[in-house]
Amino acid sequence: MQKLFRVVLTKRTPPNGLERLVADKRLRIRGGKNEYSLPSAKLKRLVRGADVILSMLTDRIDAGVMDAAGKNLKIIANYAVGFNNIDIAAAQKRGIIVTNTPGGVSRAVAEHAWALAFACAKRIVEADTFVRKGAFHEWTADTMTGNEWAGKTLGVVGFGRIGEQIAEIGSRGFGMTVLYSDTQRNAAFEKKYGARKQTLSALLAASDLVVLAVPLLPTTHHLIDAKALQRMKRTAIVINIARGPVIDERALVQALRSRQIAAAGLDVFENEPQLAPGLTALPNVVLTPHSASATHEARRAMGEQVSKSILAALAHRPVPNRIR
Ligand code: GLV
Ligand code: GLV
Repeated sequence: MQKLFRVVLTKRTPPNGLERLVADKRLRIRGGKNEYSLPSAKLKRLVRGADVILSMLTDRIDAGVMDAAGKNLKIIANYAVGFNNIDIAAAQKRGIIVTNTPGGVSRAVAEHAWALAFACAKRIVEADTFVRKGAFHEWTADTMTGNEWAGKTLGVVGFGRIGEQIAEIGSRGFGMTVLYSDTQRNAAFEKKYGARKQTLSALLAASDLVVLAVPLLPTTHHLIDAKALQRMKRTAIVINIARGPVIDERALVQALRSRQIAAAGLDVFENEPQLAPGLTALPNVVLTPHSASATHEARRAMGEQVSKSILAALAHRPVPNRIR
């Protein structure tokens, strides 16, 4: 008899891209009915005996969860680009493969960064509220005046796949000067778009639009703190599509309130889904619920990527998108 593999979905997962998993007769798929992540005890019960865990960024996958799954666990396929929710060292120690879904989500996230950047610069949310509440009485020359991006300076903090696409859109679409900060140089991009690598502090001082696209690491926690905000122009707009703790959210509220910077567009929050006190009272902030990668195109790509990684791991083939 053919060996059966247990695949656990930690919470509801869009079916797009998962067709090959669902059709595979060797797989027994369970879980995936719950809308929200399970508390640890329930998650541990669910994963018992699993060969595969298909996890979400809201699940904390630590040594306890791995041990609850037991010795059959071969792969944790994280349905996300970021993988700060997984204890990578613990997985490594147990010989468990960990994968993520890079690439397929980059465009969606880059476009979302721009959606937030435009919403801030053109005051779209404020303007929408203004119209809905009946405050639009007549056109005036100074109603909802905002700013243009053409010709301005874009600073991208973290120049991975997502950062590069954000920069490409800014350079090609709006003729922006591109600055970036990263641990590595991207000579090809510099040559093609005239981008310049800078220290974070120089980038912050020179940029009209600062976009955060770094992974969350000990070195990027509170990368944007009160001091960093002080370095920015008073007209600057900051966008976070990375991870919440990259910004000191309380310091940001303070900087937005005192108009030390002009506006912020946030898709992620320091204590998600909690928001820093005062954040929602500010008119100069646009908030989205960690939905930057939520496009039909990206969800399909993510589904296909986790499926490929899982099937490769079970077949002992080289596993795509392996983190380690
Ligand atoms: C979303 O935040 C992701 O990491 O894919
Ligand atoms: C980071 O997650 C990136 O792909 O840029």
